[in-house]
Amino acid sequence: MVFYFTGTGNSLYAAKQLDGELVSIPQIFHRKDQVYEADVIGIVCPVYGHEMPGMVKEFLRKARFCTDYLYLVLTYGNIHGRATELAEQELEASGKKADYINTLKMVDNFLPGFDMEEQTAAAPEKKVEEHLGRIKEDILSRRRWIQPVSESDREWHRKFLAGRGSVSADQWKNVYLVTDNCIGCGICTRVCPAGCIGLKDQKAVYTGKNCQMCMACIHHCPQNAIRLTIPEKNPAARYHNEHIRLTEIVKANDQHAF
Ligand SMILES: Cc1cc2nc3c(=O)[nH]c(=O)nc-3n(C[C@H](O)[C@H](O)[C@H](O)COP(=O)(O)O)c2cc1C
Ligand code: SF4
Ligand code: SF4
Repeated sequence: MVFYFTGTGNSLYAAKQLDGELVSIPQIFHRKDQVYEADVIGIVCPVYGHEMPGMVKEFLRKARFCTDYLYLVLTYGNIHGRATELAEQELEASGKKADYINTLKMVDNFLPGFDMEEQTAAAPEKKVEEHLGRIKEDILSRRRWIQPVSESDREWHRKFLAGRGSVSADQWKNVYLVTDNCIGCGICTRVCPAGCIGLKDQKAVYTGKNCQMCMACIHHCPQNAIRLTIPEKNPAARYHNEHIRLTEIVKANDQHAF
């Protein structure tokens, strides 16, 4: 059983390569009964600000796992800081023990920090297949290992925390702007794992409630009609994992049934 959370497909792509029934966290998040039993249980999700997405953390707090082997794979784009250590602590807070935690470097979809054209061009250097192959072997052999946090990871994490206040909480609340290019196709409302975009008068409306900051709405808009109100590296360039179809993201994230 592999639980996953994805905005632009990287984590879903990784999850698909690991053996097990795929379960999208946004699709089971609202269930009352959160007890899962399997020989092996995995969690695959992106790193946001050196941590797991809020919805994943909340799911991990609520869920009960009956398993012999619990693993986490955290996809990231550039620097994960203390992500493995913080994820381990997050699990421990709800009485869970991870057997294996690793990170997987993929395209960085964080628009304020990176130009998606440059990221896509540089993707082969990240050797995703090779690293994923090793992770797969580790899991198959039930390796017990938590990726250690190096001194330089800690230093990056300290820098990240020190710089975090440069965008205020109010700015983050209004960080998504729907422009007049919107044609009301509704795709953004269906790729949103938190159900916080709706349509009104044939135009997307961002409510912000429970927004996970996954940027799926921006990256998947066919009109490039959603922008950030803080500077982006390249507002014309968007990203989705080349192996993952839009229908798969919709299936993973669409909240209209709830
Ligand atoms: C809001 C946000 C914050 C992010 N923070 C980090 C980060 O701290 N470190 C990092 O290396 N990548 C960061 N990323 C990049 C993603 O972790 C990376 O692109 C991930 O593979 C995306 O997974 P997905 O395609 O499954 O959504 C961030 C992305 C977003 C949208
Ligand atoms: S995906 Fe883009 S064009 Fe379609 S409704 Fe959303 S903002 Fe408008
Ligand atoms: S509004 Fe956009 S960034 Fe926020 S959760 Fe929905 S898809 Fe992700």
